[in-house]
Amino acid sequence: MKKTFAFLLALCMIFALAVPAYADGKTTLTMATSPDFPPFEELQADGSVVGIEVDLLNLICEKLGLELVIEQMDFDSVLPGVQAGKYDVGVSGISVTEKRQKNVLFTEPYCLAAQAIVVKTGSEITGKADLDKKKIAVQTGTTAESFCMENNYKVSSFQANSDAEMALIVGKVDAWVIDDLTAAEMVKAYNKDHPDALTILSEAMTTEPYAFAFAFGSEELVEKINAAQAELLADGTIAALFEKFDAPYTAPSAA
Ligand code: ARG
Repeated sequence: MKKTFAFLLALCMIFALAVPAYADGKTTLTMATSPDFPPFEELQADGSVVGIEVDLLNLICEKLGLELVIEQMDFDSVLPGVQAGKYDVGVSGISVTEKRQKNVLFTEPYCLAAQAIVVKTGSEITGKADLDKKKIAVQTGTTAESFCMENNYKVSSFQANSDAEMALIVGKVDAWVIDDLTAAEMVKAYNKDHPDALTILSEAMTTEPYAFAFAFGSEELVEKINAAQAELLADGTIAALFEKFDAPYTAPSAA
């Protein structure tokens, strides 16, 4: 009898360890983010991070009774950190790709984005077809980087988006490929002080849905997050968040 009890106790302990933390009274949700990606996440002078995804995650956390904790890092550390279980969720304008789906568990997409081509105004590059043999700046670890590499463009990778932009400005590269809404924000900010310096081409490279990334084993939590997000999508809250940040919203269903 004693032995059976000890065995059962050991079994319980093993299961307790195997169950994801949130199931046993977790009160926080730690998000890993690279806050160089307006309007989704942007670092403020006071060290805080603001943006559409921060607001969205806060609203989701409110529905689930969790408190959002933000950890900042370079973009290429976000997914490995989530995969290793260091953070609960990767939130960084992350595009869902088949390759990433092998390593992390994605929530349902909440919007659709595109990869934009940015050039210096007056550049001879007017579309995708002109990029052959041209040097392209991208951020390390992004879909822009993998797309450009897979398609044999000449690629210069930078840890920080601002450095990729600077490479274009100083003429080290011929074009900069970056997600459309972030391109719009960053180009607008730069052109404010340097009128008409940079141009976003109308032809996009790719379209990609954004979602949040969890480690495998978080299926139960992801289901809850999907349900909360579906409510925020249906009642127009997500579209309103984009409006708050002055960004056009494309629903994931437009894919
Ligand atoms: N959407 C692209 C990707 O998933 C770029 C994301 C970059 N995010 C950032 N916070 N810098 O690869």
